[in-house]
Amino acid sequence: MLLSVDNLRAYYGKLEVLHGVSICVDRGESVCILGPNGAGKTTLLKSICGLVSYEGEVLFEGLNLNGLKPYERIKLGIALCPEGRRLFLNMSVEDNLIVAGDDVDYAYKLFPRLKERRKEKAKNLRGGEQQMLAIARSLLLKPKILLLDEPSMGLAPIVVESLSRVIEEISKEVSILIVEQNVSLAMDISDRCYILTSGRIVDEGEVGEIDLSRYFK
Ligand SMILES: Nc1ncnc2c1ncn2[C@@H]1O[C@H](COP(=O)(O)OP(=O)(O)O)[C@@H](O)[C@H]1O
Ligand SMILES: [Mg+2]
Repeated sequence: MLLSVDNLRAYYGKLEVLHGVSICVDRGESVCILGPNGAGKTTLLKSICGLVSYEGEVLFEGLNLNGLKPYERIKLGIALCPEGRRLFLNMSVEDNLIVAGDDVDYAYKLFPRLKERRKEKAKNLRGGEQQMLAIARSLLLKPKILLLDEPSMGLAPIVVESLSRVIEEISKEVSILIVEQNVSLAMDISDRCYILTSGRIVDEGEVGEIDLSRYFK
C-alpha cells in the first residue's frame, strides 16, 4: 500500500474534527473523498502532510510518518495542491513554477496552455488556468502521491470537465488522493471513493458501486 491512514483523530487545539478516519491509496490508484463543507476533508489532507496535529497513524510506503515535519513528508513523495490554490498572484506563471522546481518543461508538457501564458501574472489567468498552475506546481515536486484539495472549487462546469481530463492524464503518472464536493468530477477520475461526513467515513466502495444519491442531491 502506498498510503494508509489508520484511525486518525485530528485536532485544532482541543477540538477533535476527525474521529477515527481510516483510508488507503494503492500505487497507481486514484481515490476520492467526497463530503460536504466542514466534513473534515482539508483537515485530512493537512494531517497527511503534517500540518495539523493528530493521533493515529499515517503510513507512507510502510513508513510511519508520525513526528515527521511537512518538508520531510514532501521529500518522501507527498505533495499537496491546497484549497484555494495559494498561487503567488503577482508573479508570472513561470516564476510560480520555478519556485517549486527546475523542470519547468515537464510542467509545460503536461499543460501546454501554461507555456503559452508563461509571462502572464498568475492573477490574470482564468480560474481553470490558475488551477492548472497550482497542480503543475505541486507536480514539480515529483511526488509519488498528489493530494488535491477541491480543485473544482469556483470553476464553471465546462471548466471542471476539462480539468477532469487533465487530472485523468496526470493519474497515469502519479497516484492521486482527491477531496471534493463535486460528485461528477470525483466519478470521472477516481477508482474508489470514500464518503466523509462530520469527521467520519460513513461509506466506501468502487465508483459505480456506491450509491452516491444517498448522500448528494
Ligand atoms: N484552523 C481551525 N481552527 C479550528 N477549527 C477549524 C480550523 N480549520 C477547520 N476547522 C473546523 O474543522 C472542521 C473541518 O474543517 P475542514 O477540514 O476545513 O472541512 P472541509 O475541508 O471538509 O470543508 C470544521 O468544523 C471547521 O470549522
Ligand atoms: Mg476544505
